[in-house]
This record gives sequence, structure tokens and C-alpha cells, in this order.
Amino acid sequence: MPVTFNIIPDEYRLATDADLTERILSRKSELGDKLVVLTHHYQRKEIFALGDCAGDSYALAKTASQHGAEHIVFCGVHFMAESADILTKRYQKVYLPNPLAGCPMADMAGIGDVLHAWDILTNALPGAKIIPISYVNSTADVKAFVGKNGGTTCTSSSAVKAFEWGFKRGEKIFFFPDEHLGTNTSNKHGIPKDQIAIWDYADPKLGGNSVDDLKRARAILWKGYCHVHTTFRTEHIEQTRKRYPGVKIVVHPECPEAVVNAADADGSTSYIVDYVTKAPPGSVIAIGTEINLVDRLAHTFPDKQIYELSGNTCAMCVNMYRTTLNDLAWCLENLESVPKIEVPEEIARDARIALERMLEIQG
Ligand code: 13P
Ligand code: SF4
Repeated sequence: MPVTFNIIPDEYRLATDADLTERILSRKSELGDKLVVLTHHYQRKEIFALGDCAGDSYALAKTASQHGAEHIVFCGVHFMAESADILTKRYQKVYLPNPLAGCPMADMAGIGDVLHAWDILTNALPGAKIIPISYVNSTADVKAFVGKNGGTTCTSSSAVKAFEWGFKRGEKIFFFPDEHLGTNTSNKHGIPKDQIAIWDYADPKLGGNSVDDLKRARAILWKGYCHVHTTFRTEHIEQTRKRYPGVKIVVHPECPEAVVNAADADGSTSYIVDYVTKAPPGSVIAIGTEINLVDRLAHTFPDKQIYELSGNTCAMCVNMYRTTLNDLAWCLENLESVPKIEVPEEIARDARIALERMLEIQG
């Protein structure tokens, strides 16, 4: 039995997987249309199997915004559930079955640091029109800052369009928190290297740039990263190509630039699922993303050879992995008393502007 969040009662902690699954299914049928269970592609397979709608962060935000269920149980991480709460109506309640499931990358751009950086940038570049764009992997108050300052949020599947949108409205984009998604998106826009500045939030002096660097830059990228996707390296691609001639390599755009450039394709988790689904039987595909998705694809398509790209490291998002059957059963059987995700309205109001822009831009 997996180790689980220790506040849940022993009744759930000690139950068998078979018992928990049965209880979850029975609670789901009891609640019917009043409930929807959303699952991100990185969830454990036993949780994924119990979801009603699966998707990448964009698809799940869109589903949450359109679904009428009173109870939205989000099997994902904290920023996803926050976005769902911001996008849903007042009568709807959003739950994160394991409240400890966060995203370390989202926490790399704290609102204090973002406001400080914005002050420095706007003082260093007087009169420049800078459009802030935040990856959805960010806290609600950061999204609110973006909404208030004429920007938008984006996901990995909408980043290219979000940059296009930003460049129509301003001369520079300030993107946070993922340097790698920012770099890969800038490359897709053909922005030359000397027009990309990296903003090191730990460096008090212009984020490690000169005023000239910032004046020249079209994209200013926060120096945040996902520890799961930065484990992939170009050596993994070279070794994989040698070992499996003809292999196709598909990676997530949170991977470093060199990895994305050396791969055959890159895209969001839904893009990766689609890529594998459409590949003909017999295809050999190595995937650079979180292990639970790779593992599920390998089991779903036994007629294709699916490999995890690094081959020797375990690219696992421990936060996505936190949600267990124990947590889900506890949450569903105690909807009245378990903690809900509730973003205060004064933050939600501006964050909603940024999220709704994202949905509009991507369509
Ligand atoms: P997707 O939007 O591609 O699902 O990515 C979410 C995420 O957190 C990737 O690490
Ligand atoms: Fe955050 Fe990386 Fe986990 Fe995605 S995989 S939720 S970016 S830590």
C-alpha cells in the first residue's frame, strides 16, 4: 500500500486498493452528475483509471470552466486546482485530494519576487511596453498580477499563441517561471539569442543583466525550471538513437533547449499522447516526460515499443504521484469536511482575467 498523507483517518490509510476502488466507484455513482473527477496525464495509473476527464493542463482548465458539476475533484497539483476554482462558478467546489501536491517550479516565482522584478524592469526601461505572460504553473496571486497588468497566462500547448498575442500588444514579453518553455517558445518565434534575456531572480542587480541587455531583449525569461524535465540531456538522445535506429523522440517543452532541438517533436502532455496514438504499429518511440505518462502509454500500446528517454534516471513528479486511492476515497466520502481549494475573490478577480484570456487566445 502506498504511503499517503498522514492526516487521513486509518479507515482510509489501512484499506486495501480493491476496497478503496470499490468505495470510490460507489461514491461516484451515488453523486452522478454532481461530481466530476479530473485527472492530469501524470497521475498514477490507478487514479487515472477512475477519472471522468483526462488531459493536459490546458484541456483540464477548459473542462473545469465549462463543466456544471457541483463538486470538481482535481487529481493533479495545486496550481491546477486553483485555476479550476478561479474559472468555475460560485456554487461549484474544487478539491485537491492530496493538499500537499504542489509544483516546485510554480513556487520559484513568488509574488514578492515578481513584483520586485516588475518594478526594476519598468524603471530600467521607461516607456517600454512590456507584456507579462505567466505559465499556468504559477500561484494565483502571480496570475492576478498578470491579469492586472495587461498580460495572459498560457500552458505548454498555448505558449506559442500567447507569445504571438503578446507581441501584438507590446515590444517585450516578460515570461515566468519556466526559462526552458520560454526559450523553446522564443525559438519557435525565431527570436535571436541576443534578444533573449534570462532574469535570475536571485541576482539583485537587474536579474543578472545590463540595461543594454534588457533594452535589446524581446523576451525576458524567469530563471525557473522543472526538476523532472531538466533531467533529460542530449546524451540521452544520442544513446537512444544509437541503440534504436529509426526511433522517434518526443519531449515536453519544459525540457532544456538542446534536448528539444535534438528531438523529433515536442509538445504538451496531450500532444505526446496524440503523437504516440497516431504512430503506426511497430513504431519505436522514446519519450522525454514524466514516467507515469510514459509507463501508461507503454501499457496502452503494446504494439509499439515505448521507452522513457533517459533510460537510467527516473523522471518522476513526486507531487503528481502524491495522490493515492486512499486520498481520493477519503476526499469523495467526506466532501463536506475535507479542505477545499478556495482562492480569495480579490485575487481570483484579476487572475480570472488572465486565465480567460488564455482560453480565448487558444480557442
Ligand atoms: P501539460 O500542460 O503539458 O499537461 O504540462 C503540465 C506540467 O506540469 C508539465 O510538467
Ligand atoms: Fe511542476 Fe514539473 Fe511536476 Fe509539472 S512535472 S507539476 S512542472 S514539478
